[in-house]
Amino acid sequence: MSRKVNIKRYLSEKKSIVEKGLEALMLKADGPFTHHIEAMRYSLFVGGKRVRPILCLAAGEAITNDPETLDNLLPVACALECIHTYSLIHDDLPAMDDDDLRRGKPTNHTLFGEAGAILAGDGLLTLAFDLLSDPRYSAISAESRLRIIHAIAKAAGPLGMVGGQALDIANEKTEFPFQTLQTIHKSKTGALITGSVMAGAIGAGASAEQIEHLMHYGDKIGLAFQIVDDLLNVTSTTEQLGKAAGSDANRGKATYPAFFGVEQTRIKAEEAVAEAIEALRNFDEKADPLRDLAGYIYARSH
Ligand code: IPE
Ligand code: IPE
Ligand code: MG
Ligand code: MG
Repeated sequence: MSRKVNIKRYLSEKKSIVEKGLEALMLKADGPFTHHIEAMRYSLFVGGKRVRPILCLAAGEAITNDPETLDNLLPVACALECIHTYSLIHDDLPAMDDDDLRRGKPTNHTLFGEAGAILAGDGLLTLAFDLLSDPRYSAISAESRLRIIHAIAKAAGPLGMVGGQALDIANEKTEFPFQTLQTIHKSKTGALITGSVMAGAIGAGASAEQIEHLMHYGDKIGLAFQIVDDLLNVTSTTEQLGKAAGSDANRGKATYPAFFGVEQTRIKAEEAVAEAIEALRNFDEKADPLRDLAGYIYARSH
C-alpha cells in the first residue's frame, strides 16, 4: 500500500476518534446557556480537518504505544481543537478578516451576531483550559498536565497565536520586511501547531531531547501550514476551500505568494516540510505518522 493511502486512512481514523471525543466532552445545548452553547457547538461541529488534535495524538504515538496514556491524550487533543475553533470564529469577525464563509458554512457571527460570536470564542477558549485541567483524566500525571497547560497557554497567548493575529491585523495594507511576515506566520499559525505537537509529546512522557526535536518539527510544519494556506488562497477556489479564495489580496495581507510568487512559495513550503522530516531523524517508525503528516500539510487541497 502506498504511503499516500496510509496517511489518508490514518487521517480519517484519527479524525473520527477526535469527533467522538469532542462529542463526548463538549457541553450539551440545554439549560439557561443553551443559545451560547449552540453557538460554540455550531462552529466546533461544522467541519474542519482536525489537524491540531491529530498532530497531538501522532506526537504521543511517536513517543509511546501505551494505550491508556494515548487514550488520555484525547481530552488534550479536543482542547486544542476548541482553541483553534475559537481563533477561527474571532479571525472571521468584521473587525478582523470580515469573512462570511468558514468550513463551507456561514461564519459564526453571521448566525449568532458579533456579540454571540465573541462570546462563543471566549467560551471555547476557556472550556479548553477546563478540559486540560480536569482531574478525571488522570493517566497523565498532574505534573505533566501542568506542563501541557503551560505549553498550550504560551502557544495560544500574546507571544504566540494571539500576538501573531495582532501583528497580522496591524500590518494590513502596509509594506514590511520578509522577517515580519515570517514572524506573523510562525506566531499566528505555527505556535499552536507546535504547541499541539509539544502537548502530545509531554503527555506521552517524552525526554527533553525528544521535545527539542519535536519543537523543531512543529516550528517547520507550522510555517509550512501557513505558507500553504497563503498559496491555496491564491490558487484554489472558494468551493474547494470552504472559505473565501482571494481574500488575502482583497484585504491587503502580505503573504508568501505576494512576496515570492507562487512557484518560489511552493519551494519554500517544500523546504520547510523537508526540514521538519529531518528533525525526526532520531525517531523510530512510531514517528512515521508525523513524517507523513508533514507531507500531507504540503500536499493538502483545502
Ligand atoms: C485555518 O486552519 C486557519 C489557519 C491557521 C491557517 P485549518 O486549515 O486547520 O482550518 P480547519 O480547522 O480545517 O477548518
Ligand atoms: C488564521 O490566519 C490564523 C488564526 C485563526 C489564528 P488566516 O486569517 O490567514 O486564515 P484563514 O485563511 O482565514 O483560515
Ligand atoms: Mg486572519
Ligand atoms: Mg482569516
